[in-house]
Amino acid sequence: MKRRIDLKTAAIIGGGVIGGGWAARFLLNGWDVRVFDPDPEAERKIGEVLDNARRSLPGLSDVPLPPEGSLSFHEDMAEAVQGAEWIQESVPERLDLKLKVYKGLQEACDPGAIIGSSTSGFKPSELQEGALRPEQIVVTHPFNPVYLLPLIELVPTDKNPSEMVERAQGFLKSVGFFPLHIKKEIDAHIADRFLEAVWREALWLVKDGIATTEEVDEAIRMGFGIRWAQMGLFETYRVAGGEAGMRHFMAQFGPALKWPWTKLMDVPEFTDELVDMIADQSDAQSGMHSIRELERIRDNNLVGMMRALKAQNYGAGAVLNQHDALLKPGALPTMEEADLSQPILTLSRAVPLDWTDYNGHMNEARYLEAFAAATDRFMEIIGCDADYIASGGSYFTAENHIRYVDEVHAGAKIQVRTQMLLGQGKKLHVFHSMYEGDKLLATGESFLLHVSLETRRPSSPSAQIEAAMARIAEAQAGLPYPEGAGAAIRKPA
Ligand SMILES: NC(=O)c1ccc[n+]([C@@H]2O[C@H](COP(=O)([O-])OP(=O)(O)OC[C@H]3O[C@@H](n4cnc5c(N)ncnc54)[C@H](O)[C@@H]3O)[C@@H](O)[C@H]2O)c1
Repeated sequence: MKRRIDLKTAAIIGGGVIGGGWAARFLLNGWDVRVFDPDPEAERKIGEVLDNARRSLPGLSDVPLPPEGSLSFHEDMAEAVQGAEWIQESVPERLDLKLKVYKGLQEACDPGAIIGSSTSGFKPSELQEGALRPEQIVVTHPFNPVYLLPLIELVPTDKNPSEMVERAQGFLKSVGFFPLHIKKEIDAHIADRFLEAVWREALWLVKDGIATTEEVDEAIRMGFGIRWAQMGLFETYRVAGGEAGMRHFMAQFGPALKWPWTKLMDVPEFTDELVDMIADQSDAQSGMHSIRELERIRDNNLVGMMRALKAQNYGAGAVLNQHDALLKPGALPTMEEADLSQPILTLSRAVPLDWTDYNGHMNEARYLEAFAAATDRFMEIIGCDADYIASGGSYFTAENHIRYVDEVHAGAKIQVRTQMLLGQGKKLHVFHSMYEGDKLLATGESFLLHVSLETRRPSSPSAQIEAAMARIAEAQAGLPYPEGAGAAIRKPA
């Protein structure tokens, strides 16, 4: 099937923690990626970030991502930026180094390319100072892990034409980011200023012996951290104000800001003693896990939470749904596009991290979820779509039978193909086969009855659905009856 996404090229300048995350995000969204990083270990490090990203990112989507782009490493920065429409600078946080890099970049790159900087602290005007083409440079500040978290703080100056800012937003959205356009530049943008405030307060609490690093983390993750992840600060406080909302909340808690609750204007000195104290407490808290293990724990948790938000179409979950909507056209064939003489492609997706169990493979209940999605798609193909259901008719499942044939792991790209065994009158009997490449993973057989949603009783489908089923029945008549269809668990002899 034809993909409707044009191939794009990104250059990654600096491939550490953050550059590696950008590389993974672009690559898994179908862009070609060209990396320049003088560190001989860069290829290995990016490979490790990519392994984590392949496991976690594609399954966030309920439709397939485009085929992966190609990844290349270059010894020369000028060569790396050839043909790149997006250049992402993620070198260490030193202004002199960044300015030197832009000079080299701008001598070699396409003047129309966007140069985004991952800087956590510098203002875009500082980065544009003395540049060959200041209008080409903007701040695009990401959050770790860049391959999962949607936020990009997009900070331009008056030197950046509005057309360029819009183009940057379009590119960022196309790879699943949420670009937050920050209209007034400020040191450290928005999110990091906020995090710095919390970080300073936490350092004081630990230094003064009020709390350990673990107690600080529990105070965040058991309560307000979960709240923040879905509603942020102001919406949460609005709700906390009760029926009277934000005004009441401010009247009630505003004065507390003047109480001696904060030391935010003051920073504890980073003495060796403080550094040892925090590092020792952190070792005691989390030292039983390697950093790689912690990354995996983090990614599993993030995927689970983001997919839960997706079901609510809220916050980061709404961004995921918008990205799916961008990818959806062309992902699965319609009645007119499909070769009806063969089982029809009804599901194509990567296995999400939250579908796997303690054995590391797909939980048995998720096979049913995948087959149910395939049945929904089959219903859509024959005309039982959202409009039809709203008009009062639908199919209810009467029976399912699943056979588990082979293991399926997180990140695996699975496809379901559906053969119609019977489609006549009220009855619809389908046989799904799930594959990874050519490997058969499972089969799922479903028997459904058409019902009237008013009487909740079986009823005849529309003439259009009857006709569509007749067309498929005729086209698939030459297919053999699938091995395993009609099978049941037999009573032991
Ligand atoms: N770590 C974070 O959580 C985080 C989050 C958001 C933004 N940032 C920003 O991202 C940028 C990079 O941070 P990081 O954490 O990835 O650092 P890092 O040290 O992990 O990676 C920097 C990489 O740049 C490479 N490098 C050094 N000089 C270079 C040059 N002249 N040309 C090309 N590559 C060069 C290094 O070899 C290294 O691989 C910084 O500006 C930082 O503020 C970091």
